[in-house]
Amino acid sequence: MQDLKVLTKEEKEGLDVPRISEDQVAENSFGKKVYIESYGCQMNFADSEVVTAILQENGYVTTSNVKEAHTILLNTCAIRENAEHKIRHRLQVFTHLKAKNPALTVGILGCMAERLKTKLIDEEKIVDLVAGPDAYRDLPALLDEVSDGQKAINVFLSREETYGNIEPVRLNSNGVTAMVSIMRGCDNMCTFCVVPYTRGRERSRDLPSIIAECEKLFQQGYREVTLLGQNVDSYKWTSEEGQLVNFAHLLEAVALVSPLLRVRFSTSHPKDITDEVLYTMKKYDNICKNIHLPAQSGSNRILELMKRSYTREWYLDRIKSIRNILGEECGVSQDMIAGFCTETEEDHQDTLSLLAEVEYDFGYMFAYSERPGTPAEKKLTDDVPEEVKMRRLQEIIDLQRIHSAKRNEMWVGRKVQVLVEGDSKKSKLHHFGKIDSNKVVVFPKGNEVKGDYVFVNVTHCTSGTLLGELC
Ligand code: SAH
Ligand code: SF4
Ligand code: F3S
Repeated sequence: MQDLKVLTKEEKEGLDVPRISEDQVAENSFGKKVYIESYGCQMNFADSEVVTAILQENGYVTTSNVKEAHTILLNTCAIRENAEHKIRHRLQVFTHLKAKNPALTVGILGCMAERLKTKLIDEEKIVDLVAGPDAYRDLPALLDEVSDGQKAINVFLSREETYGNIEPVRLNSNGVTAMVSIMRGCDNMCTFCVVPYTRGRERSRDLPSIIAECEKLFQQGYREVTLLGQNVDSYKWTSEEGQLVNFAHLLEAVALVSPLLRVRFSTSHPKDITDEVLYTMKKYDNICKNIHLPAQSGSNRILELMKRSYTREWYLDRIKSIRNILGEECGVSQDMIAGFCTETEEDHQDTLSLLAEVEYDFGYMFAYSERPGTPAEKKLTDDVPEEVKMRRLQEIIDLQRIHSAKRNEMWVGRKVQVLVEGDSKKSKLHHFGKIDSNKVVVFPKGNEVKGDYVFVNVTHCTSGTLLGELC
């Protein structure tokens, strides 16, 4: 799962549009202006859109200006220690705001809220409200409790909640690409990972509400959806007629919404991604040929300790199927952890050799961070010294950078189809968009607008971006 640690420019500026008019806002929003800041993975960002919908239904309005907010909500991540440090740091900033305005409410949502529960209220004196990822429908009631002068908390995890019937309010949207949550929680117990404890048991959202959301997005002008889950390949839903829908079926149903709607998904688990999914991707041009397939390590001994349920050989066999069915051009990206418990130099070399064998397009790479309460914390020793973790991590990053550049060079001299997402970050004279295998392309503007598909000749590249000209 992609880890979005920093706020985007749009997020900071806040382009979120309230559903009610400005006049109504002025009239009704007394005490009800909410500022939301999100951290962590795409699922957390998608959850903030659900939270916004729930709050707006209850008369709240979102603001992008923290200084005019009556309530500040931080939607938090707990995946690594530094993710939580960042939140604590942010809370210090809000302490100053609260000193000036004691009526300000500060609430913590998401995975760190779920992990720390009441501790957050005890440790961080300015926190008034704590709500876990399955408690968002309760937010209006929790905010009422706070306005009555109490601290409010709901961290119950549900086996059913999918927020399926809630239409998310798109935040910081470019109007072209959108996230659609298809499942919640995780039943895998990877020993390093806090997610099963912060997000609870795996459950899949009903197919009709997913399709309805995608259809509506398409009608509103969106041209790309990313289906989100911690382990999308284990999507499973049964209709009232008893028809079992797996991830391949869901993918097909979303692809059929319109050939002009691109479909992406994240994250796939190597133990679960099937050839049926790969053949479904091949069948539809609008299913993007890109797979995020976290490996975590190249060493069988470490994979076993991580309880990832696959071996290096199994993983490489999945890569072989991807290449056989979808071809060399299919983008493949990874997540890797450096310095997991007991990792030796030999294990680390296995990770480097896995990188060399696969030659990924892209990767998210991390130093192992022990998380309280996880099986690794309870049963294994975090014994790789910090400087060794960092050195190994750097070696992984350096090798990945070489491969990213090589995989980008493959596209130079080719004509590619690009979905235009907006102005390039560096220049208003350029547009940027992505090709189907998820590579960013920057090119001088023509007459096209956001949401158009254009063809671009790729003329050169960096390790991160393709550059070209309209055909
Ligand atoms: N569901 C996804 C991953 C979600 S978490 C999957 O199974 O692949 C995103 C990434 O964070 C993981 O893939 C892993 O590489 C990293 N991660 C998770 N826990 C970690 C920890 N304790 N220390 C360092 N990295 C971690
Ligand atoms: Fe964490 Fe493993 Fe679940 Fe991914 S599959 S969220 S790494 S427990
Ligand atoms: Fe996502 Fe972080 Fe939670 S990665 S699932 S927000 S712990």
